[in-house]
Order: sequence, then structure tokens, then C-alpha cells
Amino acid sequence: MGRSLGHHIAAAAMAATLIAANNARAETPDAALRGHGGPIRAVAILPDGKLASAGFDSAIILWTIAEGRAHRVLRFHDTTVNALATRRDGCLISGGEDARIAIWCGAQAGPGVTLQGHSGPVSALAAAADGTFIASGSWDRTVRLWSPDGTSRIAAEHAAPVTSVVVTVDGTAVLSAAYDGSLRLTPIAASGTAPARQLQLTGPVNGVAMTAEGTFLLACADGVLREIDASLRPLRDIALPDGPLTTVAVSPDGRTIATGGLRTPVTLIDRASGKEKSRILGPGLPLWAIAFSADGRELYSGGADRAVRRFDVATGQPLGPSIAPASSTEIVDAKDPGAQVFRACRACHGLTVADTHLAGPTLHGIMGRRIASLPGYTFSNPLKAMDIVWTPETIAKLFEVGPTAYTPGTKMPEQRITDPEARAALVAWLARVTKP
Ligand code: HEC
Repeated sequence: MGRSLGHHIAAAAMAATLIAANNARAETPDAALRGHGGPIRAVAILPDGKLASAGFDSAIILWTIAEGRAHRVLRFHDTTVNALATRRDGCLISGGEDARIAIWCGAQAGPGVTLQGHSGPVSALAAAADGTFIASGSWDRTVRLWSPDGTSRIAAEHAAPVTSVVVTVDGTAVLSAAYDGSLRLTPIAASGTAPARQLQLTGPVNGVAMTAEGTFLLACADGVLREIDASLRPLRDIALPDGPLTTVAVSPDGRTIATGGLRTPVTLIDRASGKEKSRILGPGLPLWAIAFSADGRELYSGGADRAVRRFDVATGQPLGPSIAPASSTEIVDAKDPGAQVFRACRACHGLTVADTHLAGPTLHGIMGRRIASLPGYTFSNPLKAMDIVWTPETIAKLFEVGPTAYTPGTKMPEQRITDPEARAALVAWLARVTKP
């Protein structure tokens, strides 16, 4: 009991920190992938080069980076998706505030495997390079190791919510970090939860990255980026001036460190000298997630302004196409189950006549409208020839079978709503709020 209460208090405190940090407003940028209806919490690069992003809107979006196009929307989690990891076999792993973990392989509409075992939000994920296990960290203060058959065991315990997990280069141990500044290096082979080594810092560790040489980089809440060796001995501290760091990544060649935070924009640090190379000013704070491309030339960041930003690592300059800014539509009756489902549509579709600047057409007056007939929006050509009139039934069908099957040639990313009740709630709510 005491433990579960403690967990709730800690979780509430963290949520309060997050909300307080979310007040930053962003301007319209140039080089952003926009599609999320809420702040982005995690980004990951898939082995095929696609970028996955996820966040507060509970959707996971797969992007074709060069085209700046949302390629697929993956839906499973009920609430915020906090963590993403990729496996060498091409599968994507997601972890949510709903305490669930999902594994997505191939082109199926839903996750092939779902894992349940944590009793609090999943906050961190890592996969062994050889595919033999997944490590997860949770606000329930434990680190779990999952076997390919879906069974799990607790590998490490902390006294506070776990913020990060990484698997060591040789795959023999897991490093976990927690909100109380504790770090544990736990061997995979051991059956108990006794760490081989531990380190206690004075404040929260929010992010961890591992270098190819096996040292660890820690993004700390006191604004210091720390490097520690494979035995958790401190190597050096790099102090940044703007307060809490939330995330850290290291380039594949090990030469460049990228970090950022609540008030710290994307910052590139030369690892050899520990000196700042570039600080990429601009909107997007607070920053929650950073990832390098596989070739190390590009960097992607995600944060409170709902956009995934893309940068050239050599020059520190923003890159790439711009996608229409996310919807400004504020949903009043947010408790309606249909409005909940619409959270995943909201980034691309507005509900008012004025919402003409989004990736998709406004859904104002959608019921009774013929497909691809809204003046002023450039629809894909194949849609113009289709004989579909949008009604609650046809929109439900659209998301039962998926846009690709129902409207072949559409540029709306593939997504399905598999739960009939969720589809019914969505179309009933849409019919009400889109009435002219
Ligand atoms: C990442 C962006 C994106 C998301 C998310 C998205 N859509 Fe779309 N949607 C589009 C685009 C783009 C089009 C235009 C398709 C075309 O012209 O090829 C579209 C078209 C449509 C149409 C047809 C409109 C017309 O006038 O013919 C409907 C209906 C629709 N979307 C509903 C939804 C609903 C409901 C959701 C959430 C379950 C959703 N969309 C999620 C981008 C998106």
C-alpha cells in the first residue's frame, strides 16, 4: 500500500513538472515534421531509415524523413506514449503511460505482441542488439527484462521512478537511472535484483546514452551532462547554463553529443573537447527527445511544440520540408469518448472553416460531403474519381479497413481504429461537432 501511494505521489509530482514545463509556445518553423496532436516524448530511428515519433496524443507516427511525410499512424496505447526503442530485426517497441509495452513488426494494423507486467507508466525501453531481450523501466520503480516468449522478471529496483534504461554494448548488463539520482548496473545473467555496481547522484537523471566504448552520458536535472565509465566511475562533468537537461544522444562515430532540456535548445557538443559546437536556437522547448540518423549526419528532436525537427549535424542548420502546422483546434468536450479518439486526427484535421493550414482538409461540414470535394484543398487525384459520400457509416468504414484499402491512393497515412466502440464514438462525436 505505502509503496503504491508513494508511487502515485511521485508520479503526480513528475506530471506537475511536465505540465509546468509545457507552457512554452512556438512559432511556425521551417524544418519540422508535423502530425502530432500533442507534445512529442520519444523519437527513434528504424533500421529501414524511417523515423518513429510518439507522445502525448497516444499515437505513434512513422515518417518517411526525406519527403517529410507521415507514412503510418500506429495506435494502441490509451494515453501518452513515453518511450520507443527499435530492434535490429526492424521491429519497433513502444511503452506507454498505460503501463503497457507493444511490439510492432511489419505492416500489421496492430502490435503483434503486447507485454504487461509493470504496475505504473512505462518510461524507458531498450532492446538487446542480438534480439534476445527487451529491458523496460517504469514509474513503478522497477526494471523488467522481457524474454522473446513474453515472460518477464524484475531485474532491478530503485527507490524512485525509473527514467532511463540502456543495454551495455556487450549485451551482458542493463544500466538504469531513476528520478532520485540512483544508477544501477545489473548483470543480465543474475536471477536476483542485486546490482553489480551502483552510483548515487544528488539529483534526477533524466536521460542516458551509451557510447561505443561503453561509457555512459547522463542528462541531469541540475543542468550538468555527466560522463561515467563502464564501472560507473565519474569521468567528467560538462555544465550547461540553462537548467534541467531532459535528453541526450551520441553520434554513431562517438564524436558528437547532442542534448537539450526544459530551457536548453538542441545543443551539439564536441565529445573530445567537451566544448559546445553549436546551439540550435528556435522554437520547440521544452525538448523531450533526440536521436541521430544511422549515418550520424542528421539529428532529430521532438518536444512540446508537437513537431519533429531535423538538423544537419555538421552545420547545425535546420533541414527538410515543412509540413503544415498542427491544429490549433482546442477540444472543449474533451471527456467525450469520441473526442478522445479524435486526438489522433487533430494534428492534421481542424473542425472549423478557418482550419485551412493543416496537412488534411478541415472536417467542418464533412457529413454529407462528397469525397475530395472541399474547395481550396488539394486532394490526391485518385480520390476525386471515387464515389463516396462521407457519413458516420462511411467514415467508420474508412477507419475499419484503413484509408489505404478504402481510398487507394490517399495521402492520409495508414491507420485503423480496430475497436468498433471507438469508431462509433468518433463518428457520433464528429457528426455533432462538424455540423455547419
Ligand atoms: C498525419 C495526418 C492525418 C491524420 C493523423 C489523419 N488524417 Fe484524415 N486526411 C489526411 C489527409 C492528408 C487527407 C487528404 C487525403 C488526400 O487528398 O489524399 C485526409 C482525408 C480525410 C478524410 C476525407 C476528407 C474529404 O473531404 O474527402 C476524412 C473523412 C478524414 N481524413 C478523417 C480523418 C479522421 C477521422 C482521422 C482520425 C481518426 C484522420 N483523418 C487522421 C491526413 C490525416
